[in-house]
Amino acid sequence: MAATSFLPQEIIRRKRDGAELAPFEIGQMIAGLTDGRVTEGQAAAFAMAVFFRDMNTAERVALTEAMRDSGSVLDWSNLPGPALDKHSTGGVGDTVSLMLAPAVAACGGFVPMISGRGLGHTGGTLDKLDSVPGYMTQPDNAMFRKVVREAGCAIIGQTADLAPADKRLYGIRDVTATVESVPLITASILSKKLAAGLQGLAMDVKTGSGAFMPTRERSRELAQSLVAVANGAGLKTTALITDMDAPLADVAGNALEVRYAIDYLTGARREARMHEVTLALGAEMLVLGNLATSLIDGRQRMERAISSGAAAEAFQRMISALGGPHDLITRPSAHLAAAPVVRELTAPEAGFVSAIDTRAVGIAVVELGGGRARAQDAIDPAVGLTALAGIGAPVGPGRPLAVIHARDEATFARAAARLIEAYGLAAEAVPATPRTIVERITA
Ligand code: URA
Repeated sequence: MAATSFLPQEIIRRKRDGAELAPFEIGQMIAGLTDGRVTEGQAAAFAMAVFFRDMNTAERVALTEAMRDSGSVLDWSNLPGPALDKHSTGGVGDTVSLMLAPAVAACGGFVPMISGRGLGHTGGTLDKLDSVPGYMTQPDNAMFRKVVREAGCAIIGQTADLAPADKRLYGIRDVTATVESVPLITASILSKKLAAGLQGLAMDVKTGSGAFMPTRERSRELAQSLVAVANGAGLKTTALITDMDAPLADVAGNALEVRYAIDYLTGARREARMHEVTLALGAEMLVLGNLATSLIDGRQRMERAISSGAAAEAFQRMISALGGPHDLITRPSAHLAAAPVVRELTAPEAGFVSAIDTRAVGIAVVELGGGRARAQDAIDPAVGLTALAGIGAPVGPGRPLAVIHARDEATFARAAARLIEAYGLAAEAVPATPRTIVERITA
């Protein structure tokens, strides 16, 4: 029998004209993307056709599965508990992963978390962990498996053999204005999660001024797509839509967020918004992994794991096993870099915080050197913001807008100007942000 011919332009033409693609056509496109038979121009045209013509759920599932199968798929079936993970669409001051992974590990789950670097104005978990001296974000596969088994969690970077089709397509989307497509985002995120061989996934889809999808409608559309496609591909998944109209924590920056996570895990300080999101996502993961009988039970288990110190111990085990300092949680200041210029920023007038352009707060961190302007840029782990005033906070003399941690006076001044512009102030008292968890989406 003659081999089925493959003409990428015919598949692109069918999608361009609004047809539903068959799974084998999608499979051919992705196989061709992976082995080079599909040119960069064809991949870009395909992405643009999907951008304008969309894909139904069956096509999205086929695209996600084809991208998963472009590389290797991990198998955790020999672990004594479920492999669980969460993924966030990206935020500012979103340190959740650093606390959530060890807390779920302390509840009997195993968390092989494959994280990314900062994207645009959002921080990346991997960049935060890079501020821990010695910590290996790219261990080999044997080491990754050993740490997950022994510490219960390991947070590492993307490996070249997991969903390589996504790597190529994402690079092309990035330079052809085709990133903001719900089917393409869905397949990109989930192909990597499916390749990680998980049994349950909790998605944190951010909404608001600091989110990738700023409006409620778009965030809901993305969350519904992620849940439908993940479950359609056999991965039990729920999603929470969470507020990013203000930074999640009062801290943003790499070493500063690691310090924040340590303070949270050791009980020195637990902010209500951060605690809420961590407990809620943990409860979802425990229910998905059959480690809790209900969300209430899951929440209580998470609370116990955190307040007993068991989560802090799992965090330290992970750090030590991946090459970091053995006393990070007891002596964080001895290991985490500190910035030379650390000063309060006073608001231009007294008042109450009524609005925050969270994206601009993230950009202030990038401009301080805590994020990248270009992919190859190095990150300054020490810089960032602390004591960020939240919605409703009184500001004025003696009540700063934030504390800026800068490398020098020039970057301090630029971040100060950016923050003053990012904050809206009102003369009258303003209620605090009403809800951190906005909506829950299930299959
Ligand atoms: N994150 C991803 O991994 N892929 C996207 O397409 C968008 C965000």
